[in-house]
Amino acid sequence: GAADKAGTYTAAIDQGTTSSRCIVFNQDGAIVAVDQREHRQIFPKPGWVEHDATEIWSKVQAVVAGALAKAGLRADELSAVGITNQRETTVLWDRTTGKPVHNAVVWQDTRTSALCRELGGADGQDRFRAATGLPLASYFSGPKAAWLLDNVPGLRRRAELGEIAFGTVDSWLIWNLTGGTDGGAHVTDVTNASRTMLMNLETLQWDASVLAAMNLPEAMLPEIRSSAEVYGTAVGPLAGVPVASALGDQQAAVFGQTCFGVGEAKNTYGTGSFLLLNTGERPVASKSGLLTTVGYRLGGDAAVYCLEGSIAITGALVQWFRDQLGIIRSADEIEPLAASVADNGGAYIVPAFSGLYAPYWRSDARGVVTGLTRYVTKAHLARAVLEATSWQTREVVDAMYQDSGVRLTSLKVDGGMTVNNLLMQHQADVLGVPVIRPVIAETTCLGAAYAAGLATGVWQDLDELRAHWRRDTEWTPRMAADEREREYGNWRKAVERSFGWHE
Ligand code: G3P
Repeated sequence: GAADKAGTYTAAIDQGTTSSRCIVFNQDGAIVAVDQREHRQIFPKPGWVEHDATEIWSKVQAVVAGALAKAGLRADELSAVGITNQRETTVLWDRTTGKPVHNAVVWQDTRTSALCRELGGADGQDRFRAATGLPLASYFSGPKAAWLLDNVPGLRRRAELGEIAFGTVDSWLIWNLTGGTDGGAHVTDVTNASRTMLMNLETLQWDASVLAAMNLPEAMLPEIRSSAEVYGTAVGPLAGVPVASALGDQQAAVFGQTCFGVGEAKNTYGTGSFLLLNTGERPVASKSGLLTTVGYRLGGDAAVYCLEGSIAITGALVQWFRDQLGIIRSADEIEPLAASVADNGGAYIVPAFSGLYAPYWRSDARGVVTGLTRYVTKAHLARAVLEATSWQTREVVDAMYQDSGVRLTSLKVDGGMTVNNLLMQHQADVLGVPVIRPVIAETTCLGAAYAAGLATGVWQDLDELRAHWRRDTEWTPRMAADEREREYGNWRKAVERSFGWHE
């Protein structure tokens, strides 16, 4: 009955780029119920991407109710709820009305490219890298907030008066979950804060000199807290449940994959792909185009840092192949099409649709297809689409090695694209190490649930969580080394062709 189940269920909300999900987990970290809803992608101009934060909040409430109903649980049977979210996406709202003052500016949005160039000035792209771990790029939140203050009439003045709240999506959700205008907590966690370009990586506080350079009033910023602690108690459909964790989605996947040790890494294959390597309690500066970011911080413990290789477009290239070219009708058709030929026929596709992220950080790059001859068929292109994901990942792994000296002995993977065997085999082939997918591939939600459960006593320690991790599938490398290096050379030539198409 209900009473003996109490205290053993933990929920996670994953507010992602294209959809929101809620998953309820049991004490063993197994999935009890899932609910998911998509929200609108708003494209006002080429390169601009927005979300309606109000719509996101209603979808989140709906998936929470949906997951509880499917699990047959009441809110008071949940021990805790954890939050994980698309990172960098920027919401500004009015503290009095609780209404967003503009659509959220999404991480993929490139409207701040010129502003970022201006901010770099004579110091260039790495002006704030020592303080924040990040290069100046349209990807991060600080310049997005500055753009809004510059472009929404009257907003800067209201922000200076303390009337406006800034938040990444975690802050927006926690504020609403804990009461909104009626006493909601205005907080963020260290992992989300580390993506704003406003947090100092050493002090884990807002960096006054960066705020001054970007002309952002501190009055609008949330308080930075750890990733696993009770920020407040939910009202509404989750009334009474402690809101007990927040992690950016990629950091949550690190946690869900139990990459707790130095040198452990995971790659999540979604819209884009994000490979994070645990570097321990000291931030490691990158000289090779990676980001230095916070992995997680549990309550008062020391923060754990990661090196991250962010790839903007991987799964989104399959969607483009389906929706824009119409060569396939559903994403799962790509694997049999690609498998109908032995190789890529000489073709390479570099999906620099919004410039290239790691390790290049080139906003002037645009997509290219190289190596075309009359021999090339749609099946070869399907292969090239999949290989674009594994080659971009290879470049990130090389950069990790240059920065950290860590040579991966295997790679833990998760995310939607890991159902594609051909891709995962190619990934193992081009990395030259085994690629391993766990039984619970929903690592993002799992990580948020784990952190919330640690904060509320559902689980005792990291060892208990590690014991839940189980291998599902392992792909071992089969490609000959000379073939791998020849193909990699071709890929890098194709990447060079993608530079210089945009100012
Ligand atoms: O940095 C962007 C990343 O957090 C987005 O992840 O899975 O929502 O596409 P996802």
